[in-house]
Amino acid sequence: MNQGALMYSGKAKSIFATDDDKTLLMEFRDDTSAFDGRKTASLTRKGLVNNHFNAFIMQKLEQGGVKTHLLSMVDDTKSLVRHLDMIPVECVVRNIATGSICRRLGVEDGLELEMPTFEFFLKDDELHDPMINEYHIRSFNWASDEEINRMTELTFATNAVLVPLFRDAGIILVDFKLEFGRYDGQLYLGDEFTPDGCRLWDAETREKLDKDRYRQDLGNVVESYEIAARRLGISTV
Ligand code: TMP
Ligand code: ASP
Repeated sequence: MNQGALMYSGKAKSIFATDDDKTLLMEFRDDTSAFDGRKTASLTRKGLVNNHFNAFIMQKLEQGGVKTHLLSMVDDTKSLVRHLDMIPVECVVRNIATGSICRRLGVEDGLELEMPTFEFFLKDDELHDPMINEYHIRSFNWASDEEINRMTELTFATNAVLVPLFRDAGIILVDFKLEFGRYDGQLYLGDEFTPDGCRLWDAETREKLDKDRYRQDLGNVVESYEIAARRLGISTV
């Protein structure tokens, strides 16, 4: 499949057209950002590590019954994906309270939740990705009731597949963010699943192995992503 025109350039990934308008080429760049793009940097090897990480996780999710946009990895930093019609909503599941939920609700950082919790956010950096509810999604017609239910169901299903996968690698899956899109009348998981969009803590020490290392200037950002990858058995990284 040939790489066509650049269709979209995000904060960490670029999307290119291909010969087939149902297929896109997704490139993971070394760029990173936090705080809605206000803090940026380039981190050597991040694109490569994230492309491998994403392909591994998406494959595990497919095996666990969650349909994803991933078709194949084509080289170290690029993957072919289905061309989804993206829903502009972010779906977050949390197993442990940290990050924005602690600021919003005043709960203790690191608190283990009685049961995983679920939140929707609007994908809009200028508005700082505000938290929204299903009524907002319906009122502004960002998605249908059926799609809202399916996104919720698929996000919890993702948690059920990934919590044990990470646990077996000595890692706690603290929280994560997913984005979905439409393709052939069904919802597919799109975007990415990498340490850029989730929180991963070492099960013993609670050391952070995710983008909080960048957000909080803890250093060894890509090195920590690679520790997580290696523990999961992701090769070539
Ligand atoms: P939060 O604590 O900042 O709300 O983030 C919860 C999880 O979702 C965390 O793993 C980071 C991820 N996330 C993103 O990757 N991008 C986003 O825009 C948001 C709101 C969350
Ligand atoms: N939407 C946020 C940003 O990219 C998420 C983050 O802080 O990672 O700035």
